[in-house]
Amino acid sequence: MQQSTFTTALLRWFAQYGRELPWRGIGDPYGIWVSEIILQQTRIEQGRDYWLRFMERFPTVEALAAASEDEVLRQWQGLGYYSRARNMHTAARQIVAQGGFPRTIEGLRALKGVGDYTAAAVGSMAFGLPAAAVDGNVYRVLSRHYGIDVPINTTRGKRTFETLAAELLPKTEAGTFNQAMMDFGATWCTPKSPRCLDCPVAESCDALRTGRTTQLPVKEKKLKVQERHLTYIYIRCDGMTALHRRPAGDIWQGLWEPLLVEDGRLPELGCPLTLLAGRVKHVLTHRILLADFYLAQVEQKPDLPSGYIWIKEHDIIDYAVPRLVEKMLLLLPPESRDA
Ligand code: ADE
Repeated sequence: MQQSTFTTALLRWFAQYGRELPWRGIGDPYGIWVSEIILQQTRIEQGRDYWLRFMERFPTVEALAAASEDEVLRQWQGLGYYSRARNMHTAARQIVAQGGFPRTIEGLRALKGVGDYTAAAVGSMAFGLPAAAVDGNVYRVLSRHYGIDVPINTTRGKRTFETLAAELLPKTEAGTFNQAMMDFGATWCTPKSPRCLDCPVAESCDALRTGRTTQLPVKEKKLKVQERHLTYIYIRCDGMTALHRRPAGDIWQGLWEPLLVEDGRLPELGCPLTLLAGRVKHVLTHRILLADFYLAQVEQKPDLPSGYIWIKEHDIIDYAVPRLVEKMLLLLPPESRDA
C-alpha cells in the first residue's frame, strides 16, 4: 500500500525535529523497554535522568533479574507507581528464564506489566515489528487530523484509533513512525496550544479546518464511582425490631432499613454487637457500597434517633427494604424468645 501523505510528512518532520533521547537508536530491547516503563507515568525530563541512572546500576536484563526487589525499588525511589518497578523486576526474571527477550508482540505482551502499547513500542523500536503504539499523543494527533469525535476512552474509540494508526504505519519504519507520533503529539500537537501555524500537516487537518482543535479528542465523562461505608445494626428486643424510612435526596428514598451508622462510631446500645458479615459489597450504578452487618440483642428498647419505629420482627415482610438489607435479613439467626 502506498504511504499516506500524512505518514510521509510526519516522518520528514521527525527527521528534523525529533527529540534526542538516550535510548533512541540503541537497538537494545532492554534499554528501550526500561524507557517505556519509566515514561508510562513520568515526564520525559525526569524520566531521562532516571533512565540513565537505572541503566548504570542495572545495565542488562540479567543484572536487573539478579538484583533484589529492595535494590530495584531503591533505584525507583521518587518516581512513584512502584508496581511498575515490581512488575519490571518480575518480567526481567521471566525474560532471563526464557533465555532472552521475546521477539514477537504476543511474547512481549506476555511479560508482566507489558500491555498493548508497550509491546508495540518495544517491538517496533527494538525489532522493527510492524505494530502501532497508540498512546494519548496518538489519540490526540489522529482525532484532530482526521476529525474523529469518537470518545477515546471507549472500546469503539480504542478500536477506531488503533485501526487508523495501523493503516498509517509504514511497515518497514514502524519504530520511527511510532516515535514520530509520540514526539509530534508531545511537542507540536499539544493538548492546550497546538502549533498549527507551522504544522507540517496543517493543510489536511480536519480539526484546524473546522475550528475544533481544542474540542478534540473527545472523552466520555465517566461518572466517578463513589464508595460509601454503611453499618447496619439489626436490633432484636423481645420479638421487635427498629426500622426507619430513608429520606428523600439519597439512594433508596422511601425504603425501610434497620439502624444505620454511616462513617461514624458504633452506638452504645448496652449489649455486645454480633458481627453477621463484614465489608459486604453492593454495587449500584454510580456507587459502591461496603456494608457491615451487626445484630444487637437487647433486653430493653434503647433510645434511638427520631424517625425509628418499632415493629414486630415477623411483620418486616410488609416493609420494602433495599436489596442490601434483604441480604442482611437472610443472615439473621432465628428468633429465640428466651435468648
Ligand atoms: N513516551 C513514551 N515513550 C516515548 C518515546 N520512546 N519517545 C518519546 N516519548 C515517549
